[in-house]
Amino acid sequence: MTDLKRLAGEFAAQYVESGMVVGLGTGSTVEHFLRRLGERIRLEGLSLRGVCTSKSTEAASIRYGIPTIAPGDAAAIDLTVDGADEIDAAFSMIKGGGGALLREKVVASLSRVEVIVVGQNKVVEKLGTTFPLPIEVVPFAAGVVRRSLERFGNVTERMRDGNIYLTDNGNAILDVRFRNGIEDAASLETALDRIPGVVETGLFVGLAHRVVIAKDDGTIEVRDCPRC
Ligand code: 5RP
Repeated sequence: MTDLKRLAGEFAAQYVESGMVVGLGTGSTVEHFLRRLGERIRLEGLSLRGVCTSKSTEAASIRYGIPTIAPGDAAAIDLTVDGADEIDAAFSMIKGGGGALLREKVVASLSRVEVIVVGQNKVVEKLGTTFPLPIEVVPFAAGVVRRSLERFGNVTERMRDGNIYLTDNGNAILDVRFRNGIEDAASLETALDRIPGVVETGLFVGLAHRVVIAKDDGTIEVRDCPRC
C-alpha cells in the first residue's frame, strides 16, 4: 500500500530554499518532511532556521540536524509545512489531532506561505464529518467548557495512558465529535474563542495557501488556495 504520509511529506521538502526561516509543523506526515529536510541540509548544504510547533518536533529537529530558533527570534516565517486532520475545498482545516494546535496556529499566523501535507483521505466536503474538533482549554475550566460544548455533539476529554492528556502548554484538550459536521467554520471559531477557558480551537480558517495531496495511486496533486 502507498504510504501517503511519506509521499506528501517528502514532496514538500523541495519548497525550502537556502536562507529561509521555516515553520516546522507536527505529526507523522511532517516527520517525513523533517527527515527529508535533514537530508537536504546534509547533502546539499541547505542553510535554514526552523521554528518548531511542538516539543516532539523539537526532538525530531535535533534528530535530523535541523537548526531551530524561537518564534520571537524571526521577523517572519517564510514557509511553514504542516499536516491536517481534515481540509475542505476552501482550505479550512481541522488540526490538533497531535495536540499541537496552539503552537501550530501561532506559527501559521506568522507564515508568508503555509503548505499543508495530507493523504487524500484527509480531504473532505464538510469539516467535522470524519474527525473530532480538538479544543485546547485551561484544565481549571475543562468541566465547564465541556458542558457548554455538548450542544454541538459528543465531547470527550483527551486521555493518555489513563491520565488526562496535557498539551505542551500544560492545557487539556476536549475533542468534539459534531452531530452533522461544521456548517460555517469561521463563525464557529469566533463563537468558540469567546467561551471563557478556551485557549485555542483546532479550526484553521484562512491560514493555508497550498495543499499537497498524496493520492492512493501514488501521484501528488498540488492545489493553491483559490482566494490567495
Ligand atoms: C498536530 C496536527 C497534525 O498536523 C495532524 O494531526 C495530522 O497529523 P498526522 O500527519 O500524524 O496525520 O494538527 O496537532
